[in-house]
Formats: sequence, C-alpha cells, structure tokens
Amino acid sequence: MKQQPRHFLDLWPLPASELRTILDEAHARKAARNGAPKGTADSDAPLAGRVLAMIFEKNSTRTRASFDMAIRQLGGESMVLNAGDMQLGRGETIEDTARVLSRYVDAVMIRANRHSDLETFAHAADVPVVNGLTDRSHPCQILADLMTLEQTGIELKGARIAWVGDGNNVAASLIHAAPKFGYSLAVATPEGYRPPQGDVERARSEQGRIDLFADPFEAVEGADVVVADTFVSMGDKDAEQRLADLSPYRVTRHLMDHAAKNAVFLHCLPAHRGEEVDADVIDGPRSLVFDEAENRLHAQKAILRWCLAD
Ligand code: CP
Ligand code: NVA
Repeated sequence: MKQQPRHFLDLWPLPASELRTILDEAHARKAARNGAPKGTADSDAPLAGRVLAMIFEKNSTRTRASFDMAIRQLGGESMVLNAGDMQLGRGETIEDTARVLSRYVDAVMIRANRHSDLETFAHAADVPVVNGLTDRSHPCQILADLMTLEQTGIELKGARIAWVGDGNNVAASLIHAAPKFGYSLAVATPEGYRPPQGDVERARSEQGRIDLFADPFEAVEGADVVVADTFVSMGDKDAEQRLADLSPYRVTRHLMDHAAKNAVFLHCLPAHRGEEVDADVIDGPRSLVFDEAENRLHAQKAILRWCLAD
C-alpha cells in the first residue's frame, strides 16, 4: 500500500518526541555548518535530487528566502509558483493542482489565504505539504522561535512566555506548541482579539498552561519571553480599527520592565516600529529578532528532512 506523505500542516498531530527530534536536528545542522558559505550544501546533502515547490498566495520575504536556501543546503532545489500566475487563479481546482504538482516535485510548501485550502491541497497531494503560513497558523515560525530561545539558554520546559497583541495565526501556533514543550503561555489581547477558543481548550486538554489576559502588564509579569506580531495581518481588512483597538498592547520598554529581569523579545517580522513594538525594544539588547529570522532557515531544514525521511 502507498505510504501517506508526511505533511507538516500544524503542530498538533506531531508527538512531542518528534518535534524534539526536529529541533535537535535544526541545532545540529546549524552548528555543523560552522561558517560554510551559505550556498554550499551540508556535507551529507540528504535531499540531493529532490525538488521543493513553493506556492505563494500572499507576500513573503523570510519564508520564501529561507525555504529556498534550506532545500539548497540539503542538496536539493526549489521552484517558486505565484498563485496568481497559476491556473489556480483561473479556476483550476486545488485538488487537480495538487495531483499534478505531485507528479513533478517531491514536496510542496504553501502560503495560503485559507487554512482549509491548505488542507484540501494536502488531502489530494501524494507528496508532503508544508504550511508556510495560513490565516490560522504558522507552525514553521514557532519552531524557529523555540530554537532561538533554546540557543539563548532558555529551557522551554517551565519557561514563561507572554504573547501581547492580536491573537492571530502566529499566536495560535505558539498555543499549539505549549503542551508539546511544557512552557506556560500568557496571552494578552483585547476582548475581540482573543485566540480561537478551540485552540486554547485543546492545548489545556493536553496539559498546556494557557492563561488569557486583557491587561498586558499582568500577562508579562515575570515572563522570560515577550512575543509580539503585527496588529494587521495579511488579509485583515479593518486596519484602522485594529490599530486603534490594539494600540494599548504595544510592547514598550516600560512593559518589558515588568517582565523577568533578563526577559527577551521575539517578533516573527515584518515589524512596524511604533505600532506593535517600540524601536528601542526591537532594536535593543533584549531583542532576538534577527537570530529568530535566521533560525527559520535552520528549523525548516529539519522540517523538510522530517517530511522527506526515507
Ligand atoms: N515571518 C515570516 O513568515 O516572514 P515573511 O512573511 O517575510 O515570510
Ligand atoms: N500575522 C502575520 C505574520 C506574518 C509573518 C500575518 O499573517 O500577516
């Protein structure tokens, strides 16, 4: 019988031990490169001869460039497909697109407007499909974030992480990972911007500690890590309303001073200085955002290896 492809659509279905293995491989491959030129393959080139297709329905800088370099460093190659240029844009079905691409390439990464379209694609595909962000989640980002914290010496089990702002797709993946890695997560949002209740309940049912707050100062009290993201995500239509509602959730130095003494700051980028975070925080000594961006590359190499394991 044909083996099911190993899709990476969300963190929920992966056991904690497999996520641990992915992070361990990410750390090991990063260390092993030891300053090698960025365009050279890792010495074992484990995905030589493999091709990754990347479909983008939305803009991207980090995801696009880091997946491209990730597959190259694993010895493989990539192709970028802009959804608007494909027959998808003229009404070809997602299922037919998935079946056809499965005949050409070894894996597909998709940045989709709708999570349900990612799931439809994966269901029809015969090759692994990776979630490169949807309206519901951004699992690759969170593995890079957790890798960054570990590199800074923060042990995830027992760590206190605070999310401040919109309970969006990135916040959702941070919630999904909480029971897997054993950190507690305090989420501060205005009433109408809470993360999906289903995600919160599922994480709690899997022994994840998730606390919801309205007051950002309460949420960051004693936190080891403060995480922010844009107030207006791609696809959000009510920008002005969002900026007004979320402005009290801007991460300022004053807010960071309420976190633990050596608390660090994460942001998936792109950032809007003066909106969700002040420049003196994101550009200050507690910010890890560029290590975090770099680690997208290393984490995704390990994700692609997991998807394409023999
Ligand atoms: N953080 C992130 O996914 O960035 P891009 O939108 O640039 O890919
Ligand atoms: N929440 C943001 C993340 C961008 C990487 C968005 O979806 O636009």
